[in-house]
Amino acid sequence: MSHTALPVADAAEVRRHGLDLARRHARDLGWMLSLHGLAAACGLVAPWLIGSLLDEVVRGTTATTVNLFGLGLVTSLVAQSALTYWAVRRSCRFGERITAEVREDFVDRVVGLPLSTVEDAEPGDLVTRASRDTDALTNTVRYAVPEMLIALATCLFTFGALLLVGPLTALPSLVVIPLLWSSTRWYLRRSGPGYRRRGASYVALGDTLAETVPGARTVEALGLRSWRRDVLDRDLAEAYQAERHTMWLRSSWYLAVEFSYVVPVVATLVVGGVLHANGLATLGQVVAATLYVRQLIFPLDDVLSWMDEVQIGSASLARVLGVSKLPPDREPSGEQPRGERLTARAVTYTYEGGNRVLHGVDLDLTPGERLAVVGPSGSGKSTLGKLLAGIYEPESGVVELGGVRLVRLGEQELRRHIALVSQDHHIFRGTLRENLTLAKPGTGEAEARRALDAVGAAAWAAALPDGLDTLVGSGGHDLTAAQAQQVALGRLVLADPHTVVLDEATALLDPATARHTEQALAAVLGERTVIAIAHRLHTARDADRIAVLEDGRITELGNHHELLAANGAYAALWRTWHGD
Ligand SMILES: Nc1ncnc2c1ncn2[C@@H]1O[C@H](COP(=O)(O)OP(=O)(O)O)[C@@H](O)[C@H]1O
Ligand SMILES: [Mg+2]
Repeated sequence: MSHTALPVADAAEVRRHGLDLARRHARDLGWMLSLHGLAAACGLVAPWLIGSLLDEVVRGTTATTVNLFGLGLVTSLVAQSALTYWAVRRSCRFGERITAEVREDFVDRVVGLPLSTVEDAEPGDLVTRASRDTDALTNTVRYAVPEMLIALATCLFTFGALLLVGPLTALPSLVVIPLLWSSTRWYLRRSGPGYRRRGASYVALGDTLAETVPGARTVEALGLRSWRRDVLDRDLAEAYQAERHTMWLRSSWYLAVEFSYVVPVVATLVVGGVLHANGLATLGQVVAATLYVRQLIFPLDDVLSWMDEVQIGSASLARVLGVSKLPPDREPSGEQPRGERLTARAVTYTYEGGNRVLHGVDLDLTPGERLAVVGPSGSGKSTLGKLLAGIYEPESGVVELGGVRLVRLGEQELRRHIALVSQDHHIFRGTLRENLTLAKPGTGEAEARRALDAVGAAAWAAALPDGLDTLVGSGGHDLTAAQAQQVALGRLVLADPHTVVLDEATALLDPATARHTEQALAAVLGERTVIAIAHRLHTARDADRIAVLEDGRITELGNHHELLAANGAYAALWRTWHGD
């Protein structure tokens, strides 16, 4: 089975989303920026006071003046602390709010994904986006964005102060700009692709691991251990290379950056010395300027190091946003189906990058009829089932319910009419009751029990330690595959759609239980239209009609006796299965 990679948003979309977030939270951002800015301004008072004090002392001054300067220093420090406290508090609250938004947004996006996409996506991809990427994004929003804002504000204020001290002494510090600019450009050009490669390598690694665990038995049975190990080694090697590459980029860049910090300090001192010697700057100005340039290093360094974090965050944002780039696969029109007749006309289907699986299938189901679909493995039965349940859209041809194409029904609406039960279902962490009544919240005790009874699960459910209130799913009581299957069928009974597609829905049950469950289900589903993809031919024998699917075409259609009389593929299957 081939998987389709989920799309990734491009740089422009990421920027647009970022700006949109900023616009929506402009007030919060404004507050944070002002508070941090004021705190930074207070921090700038000290070097200026020290510089001025020095000039006063050189000129000759009184002890009172010196004390006043001291008092000024202390006041500016206290004010800075208080403002920083408020600013950080606001930033944290802001970060948490955005984090919650990002998470909710992601869940919305995932829940809204087209079903066909979820069916086909690489399993590790969505999981990585939901965990690693959302975490990375959260970190960026929580720490990097506020820190970066603070640092930027501090840089601007510091430079402003530097200019106030004296434009001439401020000039040498500008040498930092070309130095940082060129090295950072070099880095950014390479780091984006580097981080994307790193992200992809983790997805591959996660997929390999995720696949090896459930496939452990196959691996064991076929002696594939060394092959799996090779695959894993290869993925690890790629992840290692990718990690190493980004590490190399970072360390080269850091080296250049560190160098860029020392140069302006030295330049200010040297040029300041020359200016002073020529009577163009006072000693106090030179000292204050040098102190400011030194002070400029910290916020600059912050900006640069958080920029890295922002890059990681925007790579993650691109992947998180990418999820919703998928075009919706439904186009609800608000039309109501007229009646319960399900029809397929000239339906074809091709999986992405694959061969055509269905070649013009026609089916016309009379409401209340039981149709069994049989055929060799790989003939397209499950694909047809998904098309009839509206999970996939036909490549060409139409599947209609009461004259309305299934894609034209909203998902909620669709599920009121048609449901599919296959072997792919999930037991959520929660009580058995919650798992059962998902499809119909507010189900009463008697109704829940009737549903379990209808699928032959009443006995084992009653025997659970807490009955219906037993915790199941991950961390809870382990249900067997057969029990989980019965829960899925129980959900179906409660959801009560008029048309049901069962894709080998009883295959996991042992033959006796399967028989029993099928009979119980048949009684419950009585009036409903049932399309049963069958692996056991007795299901077919009991059906109103049987469709034989071979290589994506319906080759025979009729009831058991008609098909036996026709002496074709079904008759042959029946003879083999029946052993006569
Ligand atoms: N998600 C998928 N992506 C690509 N090919 C698929 C996918 N699912 C099924 N196929 C292919 O489509 C064909 C029909 O599969 P399926 O409908 O599952 O058959 P059946 O249920 O009769 O065994 C097979 O060749 C299978 O490999
Ligand atoms: Mg199948």
